[in-house]
Amino acid sequence: MKIIRATDYKDMSRKAANIISAQVIMKPNCVLGLATGSTPVGIYEQLIDWYNKGDLDFSEVTSVNLDEYRGLRREDPQSYWHFMHEHFFDHINIDPDRINLPDGTNLDAEEECRRYDDIIHAVGGVDLQLLGIGHDGHIGFNEPGAAFELGTHCVDLKPETIEANKRFFDGNEDLVPKQAYTMGIKTIMQARKVLLVANGKDKAPIVKQAFFGPVTPEVPASILQMHPDFTLVCDADALSLL
Ligand code: GLP
Repeated sequence: MKIIRATDYKDMSRKAANIISAQVIMKPNCVLGLATGSTPVGIYEQLIDWYNKGDLDFSEVTSVNLDEYRGLRREDPQSYWHFMHEHFFDHINIDPDRINLPDGTNLDAEEECRRYDDIIHAVGGVDLQLLGIGHDGHIGFNEPGAAFELGTHCVDLKPETIEANKRFFDGNEDLVPKQAYTMGIKTIMQARKVLLVANGKDKAPIVKQAFFGPVTPEVPASILQMHPDFTLVCDADALSLL
C-alpha cells in the first residue's frame, strides 16, 4: 500500500488525476474502472482540463463503472450513467461505445450481473480502478458484510448509505433506490492497479479503520491492504487521525 498525502481537496484531485493520466499516456487503450460520489468530481475536472489543453486523449480508453442504482433509467438525473456523463464523459473524446455501466433498467439481476461480468472479462479486466469510500467502509456498493469473493451482484443498500446518498435526491430518502448493481470485491481486487481517494475530516475514522485496522468483510475497503498495487491518496483532514 502506497499512501500519498495531499494538502487539500484540490491537491488530492490533482495528484490522483496525475496517476490516471499516467495510465492513459502509458497505455492509450487502457480500461479505467471509474467511480461516482462527490470525492472524484475534482479528479474528473482536472482530467477534463488537461484534455482541453491537449495533454490527454481518451479516444481508445474503455471505461467500466463500479455501480448503478437498480431501477433507474439512464436519463434519470440521479443515475450514475447521468452523473458520469455530466461530470466527465460529455467533456472528453471517449468513444460512447466504450462506456460501460451496469444497466439499472434490467430488473433481472442475475442476467444483468452476468452481462456486466462478461463485459469486464471481454475487455481484458480493469487496468486502473478508481474508488471513493463510504463512511462505513463500502467501496462501490459493497456494503459491510459483503463477501470478498463476489463478482457483480445486486445489493440491498444499508440505511446509512441511503441516508448518506439522499443529498443527491432532494434530501428525500424515500426517493433513493433501495438496491443497486455493483462490481464485486473480487473484480475490484483483480484490477491491476487500485487508486482510492478520500478527503475531509468525516472520512478520517474510516480511513484509519480500513487501512490501519484488521482486514475484515465488516470494513469492505480493508481488503485493499492485500492488493499488490494499491495507492491511497488523501488530504490532510482524512489522514488527521493517523
Ligand atoms: C456512493 C458510491 C461509492 C462512493 C460513496 C462515497 O455510495 N456508490 O462509490 O465511494 O458513495 O461517496 P462520496 O465520495 O460522495 O463521499
